[in-house]
Amino acid sequence: MSRKRVAILISGRGSNMAALISAARAPDFPAEIVLVVSNNPEAPGLAHARDAGIATAIIDHRPFGKDREAFERNLQGVLEANRVELVCLAGFMRMLTPWFVHRWLGRLLNIHPSLLPEFKGVDTHARALAAGAKTHGATVHFVVPEMDSGPVIAQARVPVHRGDTPDTLAARVLEAEHHIYPIALRYVAEGRAQMIDGRCMIDGKEHIEPVLLIPPP
Ligand code: GRF
Repeated sequence: MSRKRVAILISGRGSNMAALISAARAPDFPAEIVLVVSNNPEAPGLAHARDAGIATAIIDHRPFGKDREAFERNLQGVLEANRVELVCLAGFMRMLTPWFVHRWLGRLLNIHPSLLPEFKGVDTHARALAAGAKTHGATVHFVVPEMDSGPVIAQARVPVHRGDTPDTLAARVLEAEHHIYPIALRYVAEGRAQMIDGRCMIDGKEHIEPVLLIPPP
């Protein structure tokens, strides 16, 4: 089995990164994590990656100022130097330009803490509570230039409990994130999930019912 070479892009804690690293340790996992890149030199996730024996790179976005593409050209260089085939965004807090996204179309994944298309953007847990949502969740999707809008590969739905705060709800969603991100990466690395004409096809069929309920009913 030739394992796909994966880079994970982080900006912070890196718990989704850790979940992917851990899943990729399984001998039958179709991808290997060859690189972790952070735009934030202080990202706590970097230490975890190093402890796991994974190469890390820091590309601080600040010296590039408003020139997002210049930052991305550097990033692209590091990805190419490491012969990366798939990129997973995991709490990566930089908007990517069409320049970068088009280079990686169908090979660039993101995880978002809501049941997209609901609650794009930030503060999803507080917004779900304010909206009185009964359920909430997480989504892994292919990245397209428009933020949080690409075709869905996998979703997990979790219940909202009475008395939930944004933090308690975030913790429940995060557990679901750690579950679905490795599943989605496996599908993409195996070539079973593909982005075709802006849609996610799984095993050649349009992916219609992507929601996984956690915990199961
Ligand atoms: C996660 O909730 C992810 O969905 C969002 O940012 C958070 C990152 O957490 N994009 P971590 O760094 O993976 O722990």
